Amino acid sequence: MQITQSVALVTGANRGIGRALVEALVAGGATKVYAAGRDRTALDALAASAPGRIVPLTLDVTDADAVARLASIAPDVNLLINNAGVLDFGSPLDMPIAAIERNFAVNFYGPIRTTRALAPVIAGNGGGAVVNIASIVSLASMPSLSGYAASKAALWSFGQALRAELAAKAIAFHSVFPGPVDTDMAAEIPMQKTSPAEVARAILAGVVEGREDIFPDPMSASVGAAWAQDHKAVEKQFAA
Ligand SMILES: NC(=O)c1ccc[n+]([C@@H]2O[C@H](COP(=O)([O-])OP(=O)(O)OC[C@H]3O[C@@H](n4cnc5c(N)ncnc54)[C@H](OP(=O)(O)O)[C@@H]3O)[C@@H](O)[C@H]2O)c1
Repeated sequence: MQITQSVALVTGANRGIGRALVEALVAGGATKVYAAGRDRTALDALAASAPGRIVPLTLDVTDADAVARLASIAPDVNLLINNAGVLDFGSPLDMPIAAIERNFAVNFYGPIRTTRALAPVIAGNGGGAVVNIASIVSLASMPSLSGYAASKAALWSFGQALRAELAAKAIAFHSVFPGPVDTDMAAEIPMQKTSPAEVARAILAGVVEGREDIFPDPMSASVGAAWAQDHKAVEKQFAA
């Protein structure tokens, strides 16, 4: 999949990694980028930076009817990036079920809906790619991230099942496993973070190179390598 002349749709595009992805797609030569999100004012401002190439789209990924309309609103898409996400902190024994459900609604069911809506469109346009932004905590959880990590692990698992079906439609599928990225989501996480722009560029490079699993920052690359060697050691390190 090449970024040049692609037509992309990015969810959660009004800020953070999603906004950086839209900017990287435009810089990489995408013909058109549908910037989808809930905050229309921010999307309109983003669209003004590349008139005609960035198309703002109001979309809450938990709104099944709105997602179902995507096929007619964006019939030329060949690259879907499922980026929208939420993070509610909470321990496995105390976190309210409603908060866990919210994490699953956005992080897991959202990408399932958008992919089901747009896979036929991408296939009809000759194929392309779907990218799910998972997390390094898809691979190993932490007590304070219990509900969030579970939703991201589910997203990773679902993607493994999805890959074969999408391949039959000439659609490549990529899972992305970022470590800490300097966005609002990670504001309370006191760790060294990579910039969203750097992460966005690494994600698109991984798509172009055809890498199924993309570790887009130094921390995720190092944890990913350690996990491949000894997943139990990473589980124990994260749990501590
Ligand atoms: N930052 C990190 O350290 C990190 C690490 C690993 C993975 N990730 C993943 O990377 C992705 C982007 O995160 P980020 O760091 O850029 O976070 P962020 O700055 O908090 O941005 C999250 C984006 O998701 C959108 N969103 C939330 N709920 C939505 C919904 N129901 N429908 C549509 N959009 C919704 C937000 O829109 P509103 O402005 O309307 O809320 C916002 O645009 C997420 O999937 C996250 O889990 C982040």
